[in-house]
Amino acid sequence: MAINQLKVPGKVFSGNDSYLKMKDIIEGEVVKNVLLITDKGIEGAGILTPVLELLHDAGVHTEIFYHVQAEPTHNDVTQLVSEIGDTPADYIVAVGGGSVLDVAKLVSVLKGATYSIENLLETPGIAKKQVKSLLIPTTCGTGSEATCNAIVGVPEKGIKIGIVNDALIPDAAILDAVFVKNLPQKHLAAAA
Ligand SMILES: NC(=O)c1ccc[n+]([C@@H]2O[C@H](COP(=O)([O-])OP(=O)(O)OC[C@H]3O[C@@H](n4cnc5c(N)ncnc54)[C@H](O)[C@@H]3O)[C@@H](O)[C@H]2O)c1
Repeated sequence: MAINQLKVPGKVFSGNDSYLKMKDIIEGEVVKNVLLITDKGIEGAGILTPVLELLHDAGVHTEIFYHVQAEPTHNDVTQLVSEIGDTPADYIVAVGGGSVLDVAKLVSVLKGATYSIENLLETPGIAKKQVKSLLIPTTCGTGSEATCNAIVGVPEKGIKIGIVNDALIPDAAILDAVFVKNLPQKHLAAAA
């Protein structure tokens, strides 16, 4: 009989107010600098406030990167990794839908790495974890917060490619309904 292994993030918290666990996760890792990856829609929805308050309470410095495109392409990821550059980061916190979470997972293996996302499209096996990550989904249905793959568009070929490597499994995930309760119906319908 085949033996299967289910690989998931090391810490998964769910339920009402589970987002409060973020402070424990961050403090448990002795983090000084957080990269917060999100998008403008999340900022506009006003759901970053509790996350920023907890990071502040945890005493960490937070740099926020808002420039994630929906349905990101490999060029979008390259641009964001370049924008992040040498920004100090001991931990990535991502708040968003599947687009933000996939991009954050890719940043977690690309920041400071000697390979590029184009290398990963050809040879996903070379990916190595560079920065740990905590993912907080704000949509429902992609499951990206718990998987070993990240999907990017490759417009020159007219396709999307899933990059698969265990290094893409996030270190922690928080599933709290507070982040999805005001999800616009069109996004809810698209994700369901
Ligand atoms: N890695 C995986 O396993 C996996 C699986 C399925 C899909 N995906 C990828 O996920 C992406 C799609 O993700 P998605 O459907 O979650 O949407 P999305 O992340 O592309 O977000 C769509 C829009 O919804 C907005 N939004 C998200 N949450 C919101 C909230 N709570 N309130 C208000 N606005 C909100 C965002 O700002 C954005 O404008 C695609 O790129 C797809 O390829 C990945």
